Amino acid sequence: MKNLNYTIKQTEIKDANAIIDYLYTIAGESNTITFSQSEMTLTVEKEIEFIKTTINSKNNLMLIAKQNNEIISLLTVFSSSKPRLSHVGEIGISVLKKYWNKGIASNMFNEMFKWVENSNLSKLSLRVREDNIYAIKLYKKYGFEQEGLLKNDFLLNNKYYNNIIMEKILNKKGE
Ligand SMILES: CC(C)(COP(=O)(O)OP(=O)(O)OC[C@H]1O[C@@H](n2cnc3c(N)ncnc32)[C@H](O)[C@@H]1OP(=O)(O)O)[C@@H](O)C(=O)NCCC(=O)NCCS
Repeated sequence: MKNLNYTIKQTEIKDANAIIDYLYTIAGESNTITFSQSEMTLTVEKEIEFIKTTINSKNNLMLIAKQNNEIISLLTVFSSSKPRLSHVGEIGISVLKKYWNKGIASNMFNEMFKWVENSNLSKLSLRVREDNIYAIKLYKKYGFEQEGLLKNDFLLNNKYYNNIIMEKILNKKGE
């Protein structure tokens, strides 16, 4: 593989098609996410709606890493529009398999935490399959702690897996 030379940036509406293609690829190569290729129902219109909720938002974020015009990673933070819940950001992260273990997810998290500093979030949360060791390693490295166990939460090929809820309370500057 040639040297990595990627940039991380916030998603724009013009990225919608490329994100759908990216998610289709991810769905085909990762069974730790919640959908397979055949279940992909995301339309460009829906994706544009998602992107719009993140533009200039203090509670929602979509970051992509691009190398030679190809999306190689996607990180999302979405929160509820309900005021009592909108301080909690739910994280999703993925990297194209051929680029795993090269620090890309870690760099996505570094960028996310820069954004978090000026966000309205005071807590980050995520759900991860108990056997997803690299993802759990990543989250622990960034200070996420296990807060709960969801038994038989994930069903794949007639086998149940437990999910872990991991969370990080944010202590931002000035607090
Ligand atoms: C989880 C995922 C995002 C990690 O992405 P990544 O770019 O490989 O992560 P990083 O390179 O930043 O590595 C994170 C940690 O995991 C370790 N790691 C990642 N892949 C590894 C591998 N194949 N072998 C050994 N260690 C590995 C790294 O060493 C690193 O730990 P360190 O910083 O202590 O060295 C990626 O595996 C992925 O996209 N998985 C499929 C989608 C998914 O499961 N997402 C999470 C859903 S909750």
